[in-house]
Amino acid sequence: MDLIVKNANPWRDGEVRDLYIADGRFVEPPDGGDGAEVIDAAGRLCVAGFVEPHIHLDKALINEDVRPNVSGTLDEAIEIIWERKRAYDTEEIAARAGRVIRSALANGVTRIRSHVDVDNIGALRPLEGVAEARRRHADVMDIQIVAFPQEGILRNKGAEELMWQAMEAGADVVGGMPFNEKRPEDSARHIRIAFEIARKFDADIDMHVDETDDAGARTLEMLAEQTLENGWQGRVTAGHTCALAGYDEDYANAVIALVRQAGIHMITNPATNLMLQGRLDAQPKRRGITRVKELLAEGINVSFGQDCVEDTFYPFGRVDPLEVGLIAAHAAHMSLPGEIEELFDMQTNAAARVMRLDDYGFAPGCAADLVILDAANAAEALTKQAARNVVIKNGQIIVTNETKQDWRWTP
Ligand code: FE2
Repeated sequence: MDLIVKNANPWRDGEVRDLYIADGRFVEPPDGGDGAEVIDAAGRLCVAGFVEPHIHLDKALINEDVRPNVSGTLDEAIEIIWERKRAYDTEEIAARAGRVIRSALANGVTRIRSHVDVDNIGALRPLEGVAEARRRHADVMDIQIVAFPQEGILRNKGAEELMWQAMEAGADVVGGMPFNEKRPEDSARHIRIAFEIARKFDADIDMHVDETDDAGARTLEMLAEQTLENGWQGRVTAGHTCALAGYDEDYANAVIALVRQAGIHMITNPATNLMLQGRLDAQPKRRGITRVKELLAEGINVSFGQDCVEDTFYPFGRVDPLEVGLIAAHAAHMSLPGEIEELFDMQTNAAARVMRLDDYGFAPGCAADLVILDAANAAEALTKQAARNVVIKNGQIIVTNETKQDWRWTP
């Protein structure tokens, strides 16, 4: 036995109990003590590490040295990115990604899925930079890398070949951005290419889908249909899906039914999309995020992600699931007690399902990732953006922060 966490209050367990850790894993209670290190959670809320399922580590922090986005639109953000991508260097990408990984860890995030741009501007440098950051932080953070053809596959010359190369070079998941093609038949072809690659590498798929205010966007339906055709149910994730919010009710319901049938995981990115979508609307302005509650009501796995950190799309972001969770609560009208619990699920178990983690949780045999929050329950954790008092990764105590946020009605 290496470590005992006494008086832990695992979220949703309903009881305070001791947790036992040996060789980086949770284990059954032993017959007797054997000199393990002991820490006392004193009844505070614990999660098995927060899971960040959608972030762009390659682009994070580029705001530090680019011209400002003066229109605030997605189009200008992409224009500036192109300029910056031409100047990318693997080492500086690794350095920026590393800073963000360490911030995430301090916030209790122990698993990350990052998209990296794959296109003829930056070629494979974003992948190489993030892979290097992953290597440097291998003992404190598990990272999956998604090869993300941000500029399209058909409209960006050479992108298809680069996608194959990215998977050969160590990307784990096939990404996509099918709406970023010139015509619907190209969007369908974009998705077909992604499935060809995924089948070859036996990889999961995680696409940026219909991140647009255009309610005419139809690539979520295409993705769901091709998921079924390929038998990839449970292995496909759709991020953003903003257009779904704008569909008329009949079409939205039909697409949601298809998403459910295809077992697609959904990720909303409320911080970025509240900022970008609906920006040019006359009042009333659209919220810009997908139909979170409707998807949850159908039993679809829904998570949320930080998406952007100080890049041209979004000037804020700390990779703090409690911050994004609070934004999600507002954006999706999630305020009832059960809905607040649901938000906690979205940043833990649901995100773990997106990443298809089979060693997540407090059960014996799971990786001993643990965060002790300065809170008694999920609502308090979100309300006061609770301090992460202890962060444990694979049984190692990485962060200790005994800050108390005694904000509540103290004289
Ligand atoms: Fe994204």
